Amino acid sequence: MTSLSAAAPWWRPNTHHRLIIRGGRPLIGTYPISGAKNAVLPLMVSALLTPHLVTLRNVPANLDVAVLAALLQRLGCEMHWSTNSATNGTGLAVTLCADRVRPHRIDPDLVTRMRASVLLLGALLARCGEALLPMPGGDAIGLRGIDFHIAGLRAMGATVELDGGMIRAAARDGLRGADILLPQPSVGATENLLLAAVAAMGTTTIRNAAREPEIADLAACLIAMGARISGLGTHVLVIEGGAPLTGAVHTVLPDRIEFGTLARAAALTDGELILPRAHIDLLGAAAASYGAAGVELHDTADGAIARRAKQGLVGVDITTGSYPGFATDLQAPTMALLTMASGLSAVTETIFEQRFRHVDELRKMGANIAVHGRTARIRGVERLQGAAVTCTDVRAAAALVLAGLGASGETILDGLDHLDRGYDRMTEKLAACGANIARR
Ligand code: EPU
Repeated sequence: MTSLSAAAPWWRPNTHHRLIIRGGRPLIGTYPISGAKNAVLPLMVSALLTPHLVTLRNVPANLDVAVLAALLQRLGCEMHWSTNSATNGTGLAVTLCADRVRPHRIDPDLVTRMRASVLLLGALLARCGEALLPMPGGDAIGLRGIDFHIAGLRAMGATVELDGGMIRAAARDGLRGADILLPQPSVGATENLLLAAVAAMGTTTIRNAAREPEIADLAACLIAMGARISGLGTHVLVIEGGAPLTGAVHTVLPDRIEFGTLARAAALTDGELILPRAHIDLLGAAAASYGAAGVELHDTADGAIARRAKQGLVGVDITTGSYPGFATDLQAPTMALLTMASGLSAVTETIFEQRFRHVDELRKMGANIAVHGRTARIRGVERLQGAAVTCTDVRAAAALVLAGLGASGETILDGLDHLDRGYDRMTEKLAACGANIARR
């Protein structure tokens, strides 16, 4: 298998497979919010569209970034990294150079490790007129089809065949603009079609596009490269394709999921965290639900400040939805908080069919949760108790860290690859804010 540290020299494979948390300590201090995982992945893929240099700043040092770097390197993309000390502590910076792309050099093991690898389809079709890749992997949180991606690319003139677990796509005469209506505002399909559309001849309209801030961040970088895109932040994106693309320098937007997770951690442990680079606007309409649950947020010049509200933690009802609704990626961390809030809560998951796998783990720690279909009903308890638990996906891992920080006694987590996929040095950052946390 391709070595991750050859492509991402800052990546250190973890030799410690367990995370031990002794809970009950308030988190107090400064927890820097990294660049958004779900923004940086499509941004890195966008470098395949141009032979010129694309520089990304505020890149989070997480496992998904390392895996994508290795995938891109195999495809011929060269990368030059600068680490934190050279970037004033604002994450990593990477300059990508894809002057020669070899579309057949896909590493199937890496593709099946991450969902975002499906974005290579749109970018490779746009740049090389062909793509061959295995069905993408990623978290086991639902069916996670790619039918919207495929239908959109076909509408743009590509042939796409699924054959023995492989996706074979071609557009030998180039892609052409199309009017595409997404059945659902899919984040990945919007990004894939955006990447393809900037290189297609003519106008592409993506209707019912997802409006997540990570998509506007991708579009902003593409515009800096010379693409003509309008409708940013709305449900209708219009792309005038075919403009020659140059290089660009782009700073990745802050990670609103890491922000929301750490704000909950501050409230849960009755501490106070300064979250540099985070600001309340990033949370969209979901910001209102923070105060209701007893998570107090303020914007300051140094970043957002999060603490527990005077009334304490209070049960709330939340329903996940597309942006600006309540992010599904914060559903599990929110549930961890609500297990120790007063009264009853109801958490309804509408985006993914199987995103309650953390419930069994939280129950091992004494949480009182009953699941009925897509809704989990939670009766808060005074405190969870530490237990041995397993991370089942990226956000479940964050939820279990939160539960461990708020619980009494010792929590032992395994399945840490899930945590490393989505979070930049979470253990170190938490320890710096007073958590009793260590890898063993
Ligand atoms: N869907 C289809 N067919 C498609 C595309 C999507 O049926 O062709 C369905 C999915 O199965 C799902 C729903 O539509 O039920 C929404 O999926 P979407 O395409 O929006 O999600 P995604 O692109 O696979 C991204 C994030 C997820 C995040 C979701 C929703 C990345 C790399 N992943 O996934 O992040 O939960 O959008 O906001 O950006 C995570 O970071 O932990 C994570 C899972």
